Amino acid sequence: MTLTVLNERMTFDVQRVRALYPALGEGFAHFDGAGGTLVAGSVTDAIAATLRAAIGNTTTVFTPGRRAIEIVAQARVAVADLLGADPAGVVFGPSATSLTYRVSRALADTWRPGDEVVVSRLDHDANVRPWVQAAGRSGATVRWAPFEPSTGALPVSAYRELVNERTRVVALTAASNAIGTRPDVAAIAALAHSVGALVYVDGVHATAHLPVDVRALGADFYVTSAYKWSGPHIATCVADPGLLESLWPDKLNPSPNEVPERFELGTPSFELLSGVTAAVDHLSTLDDAAAGSRRSRVLTSMGSAHAYQMDVFGSLLSGLQALPSVRVLPAPAGRCPTVSFLVGDALPAQTALALGDQGVCVFAGDYYAWEYFEAMGLHPRGGAVRASVYHYNTLEEVSRLLDCVKRLV
Ligand SMILES: Cc1ncc(COP(=O)(O)O)c(C=O)c1O
Repeated sequence: MTLTVLNERMTFDVQRVRALYPALGEGFAHFDGAGGTLVAGSVTDAIAATLRAAIGNTTTVFTPGRRAIEIVAQARVAVADLLGADPAGVVFGPSATSLTYRVSRALADTWRPGDEVVVSRLDHDANVRPWVQAAGRSGATVRWAPFEPSTGALPVSAYRELVNERTRVVALTAASNAIGTRPDVAAIAALAHSVGALVYVDGVHATAHLPVDVRALGADFYVTSAYKWSGPHIATCVADPGLLESLWPDKLNPSPNEVPERFELGTPSFELLSGVTAAVDHLSTLDDAAAGSRRSRVLTSMGSAHAYQMDVFGSLLSGLQALPSVRVLPAPAGRCPTVSFLVGDALPAQTALALGDQGVCVFAGDYYAWEYFEAMGLHPRGGAVRASVYHYNTLEEVSRLLDCVKRLV
């Protein structure tokens, strides 16, 4: 099948894009992108090339060391192009979870009893627990933004009552990894900024599906993991370098005092950083017609990929909704292409296993969206089943998934 989404500016050829992912040749239908996507072949090549080359630890006194410095610098510029950030504010770390712990601890050093932190019940626990624990240590109060169970929305109005002059940080997701909800981050950030609070945005799910502009979002910090967008298992948190300058995380005496380096622990993974650069380059080519700077090609390509994904996701969602014994957990319009559902009385793990046996990869559980599943009362039966559409999924694969579900019901 070749499904091409065309409008005046965008061209997305899914068959061409699929050919860029060698692992698709194994024949699985990957609706598990929200847990981690396949890696583009160019990413694998870049990682292997770095491991094969003469590359030492960072130093300016010999060529292999200078190459290492260059790899790190290139990866910072690549992430800046992906997110609309300043390369001097791009921090790397092993995972979004570890980066959020790191930043939350550094920020909590500046908090006092009476300060407040706002977290949401829609977020992945990686953007909840680090703040709750940091608040606990510094005596700050945690305030919870509830989502609406009947719609899956995280309304701005909830934040009007939660954010006040005591608020130091608002931590929220750019998109739910469970149901795809995209809160109005810019409006919530504006509220937070009006009282001088910082905004920490979990962009792990959103970055895979959308063009991102951290400044337009109003994110003071934005964290994302490359393994959700065709790259390797490494993460980044971006911020204004001036903001990073104002924080002093725990670090070794001899390690760099400058930012962003002072937020990074130990020797960087040069091979994975090469993979990050390759992943951003790859994303910038998703649209055949993308032109201009890499930033502009990324924006065009991610916009086209998003339009394509939403088309495929529309078929998946309407197909699931049409099945009487399938319960689809609600999410408002404008969501990311990710859905959680339950099939009849089956436990989510049973459903996922049955689909897995047919080569259709979906997750079951709470996918660490712990508070969401607690609030929905779904933890006792093991959460739900999650299918997420990435830009290499096809309408044929949607039919394959729906056929499997139909057989179950
Ligand atoms: C929305 C969201 N936030 C955070 C994380 C955690 O990312 P990492 O595995 O890089 O810590 C995930 C991982 O699934 C996620 O989906």
